[in-house]
Amino acid sequence: MCSSIASFVVATIFVTLLLRESNAQLSATFYASSCPNASSIVRNVVQNALQSDSRIGASLIRLHFHDCFVNGCDASILLDNSANIQSEKDAAPNTNSIRGFDVVDNIKTALENSCAGVVSCADLLALAAESSVNLSGGPSWSVLLGRRDSLTANQGGANTSIPSPFEGLTNITSKFSAVGLDTNDLVALSGAHTFGRAQCRSFSNRLYNFSGTGNPDPTLSSSYLTTLQQTCPQNGSGTALANLDLTTPDNFDNSYFTNLQNNQGLLQSDQELFSTSGAATVSIVNNFSSNQTAFFESFAQSMINMGNISPLTGSNGEIRSDCKKVNGS
Ligand code: HEM
Ligand SMILES: *[C@@H]1O[C@H](CO)[C@@H](O)[C@H](O)[C@H]1NC(C)=O
Ligand SMILES: *[C@@H]1O[C@H](CO)[C@@H](O)[C@H](O)[C@H]1NC(C)=O
Ligand SMILES: *[C@@H]1O[C@H](CO)[C@@H](O)[C@H](O)[C@H]1NC(C)=O
Ligand SMILES: *[C@@H]1O[C@H](CO)[C@@H](O)[C@H](O)[C@H]1NC(C)=O
Ligand SMILES: *[C@@H]1O[C@H](CO)[C@@H](O)[C@H](O)[C@H]1NC(C)=O
Ligand SMILES: *[C@@H]1O[C@H](CO)[C@@H](O)[C@H](O)[C@H]1NC(C)=O
Ligand SMILES: *[C@@H]1O[C@H](CO)[C@@H](O)[C@H](O)[C@H]1NC(C)=O
Ligand SMILES: *[C@@H]1O[C@H](CO)[C@@H](O)[C@H](O)[C@H]1NC(C)=O
Repeated sequence: MCSSIASFVVATIFVTLLLRESNAQLSATFYASSCPNASSIVRNVVQNALQSDSRIGASLIRLHFHDCFVNGCDASILLDNSANIQSEKDAAPNTNSIRGFDVVDNIKTALENSCAGVVSCADLLALAAESSVNLSGGPSWSVLLGRRDSLTANQGGANTSIPSPFEGLTNITSKFSAVGLDTNDLVALSGAHTFGRAQCRSFSNRLYNFSGTGNPDPTLSSSYLTTLQQTCPQNGSGTALANLDLTTPDNFDNSYFTNLQNNQGLLQSDQELFSTSGAATVSIVNNFSSNQTAFFESFAQSMINMGNISPLTGSNGEIRSDCKKVNGS
């Protein structure tokens, strides 16, 4: 009796370790012999792109996020429409919003020139995200690598899995939880809104008649409200841009969290992290606002966590030669 329980326990531990093993296949040294310069090749192209477009780093990290939340980090977001592909680029959270595909293609060309057929488009996005953050003043981390590229896209999944700024903290927390990310990850990763832009249509619901109240969102500071109303007139086209971080728009720093404390979060989903009374997110915002080191450490860890979402590894998927299409199509 005792020994059968003991062997059951041993077998369970063994199977658990095996499962962990198969889940933990990404590695910082994956390209150490096949493409040792992969990271600096990516970084150089991102650095050049930043010279002419101060927003591109923000756009690139967002691509990695929108990739990872849909079928895992498999570059599914990069596939164009074709006979077999309904592109994720046309999904509601992405259409007329995500950008950076030309730079992705330039990075891919540079990688192929040095190491043909070796570095996946999914890993390219993870590396570009790290470069973008660090080149903008943010932390550096050791990117885990070895993802492979999908043979399919999931437009319906992109419609439903990527959080919307309007859906409320509870629903957004559920969408993070659905991909294995917790409240700490949610707050840290939301800190990516320390750089980049949003269109009026992503936040103008807060400016004139919030939730049918006839008034603006009460958690929006009045001076910031005035500025945003000028940027986004009522009945405007909705495509004008505002900085996600009004204080240091292009720097990767912790001012996003200070903005939230000052009722100067741009998106409803940003401000809710601080203004939802009793929420577990509030003290995390306060921590990151008072301690940039704590934010940077958490952000780096949460980027690794996000990058670990369901990668294709081993002989699954492929290494695309053109990020926009499945090989041979
Ligand atoms: C927590 C839930 C999130 C929501 C609801 C959300 C929503 C949005 C929205 C609505 C925009 C503006 C899109 C537009 O107006 O065209 C945006 C931009 C952006 N998001 Fe998020 N986001 C979230 C989390 C994240 C995460 C986890 C990251 C990265 C780690 C991220 C990075 C960015 C960046 C950098 C931009 C600016 C992109 C650019 O300027 O091209 N966001 N987000
Ligand atoms: C790697 O890049 C560095 C500069 O970024 C260069 O000096 C070196 O020659 C490159 N090595 C290889 C193997 O391409
Ligand atoms: C960028 O990364 C380098 C290491 O590659 C690090 O020394 C530097 O501190 C990082 N930048 C910032 C602002 O943390
Ligand atoms: C995803 O949403 C877009 C935009 O709302 C819509 O046109 C498209 O049909 C949806 N796709 C799927 C597969 O649900
Ligand atoms: C939150 O999710 C629930 C369940 O999916 C849905 O019924 C509800 O409409 C969502 N709330 C918002 C504000 O989108
Ligand atoms: C605000 O929206 C509500 C619900 O959509 C509507 O009934 C009300 O008339 C609007 N108020 C103003 C001032 O536009
Ligand atoms: C916006 O459009 C509505 C309906 O088309 C109109 O009643 C309203 O006066 C317009 N508001 C402004 C500020 O132009
Ligand atoms: C800031 O956070 C870091 C990392 O968690 C920690 O080591 C440090 O003690 C914190 N500093 C203060 C003043 O709390
Ligand atoms: C602040 O965040 C850091 C990094 O996640 C964590 O180590 C520390 O315990 C937090 N401090 C407080 C006071 O919550």
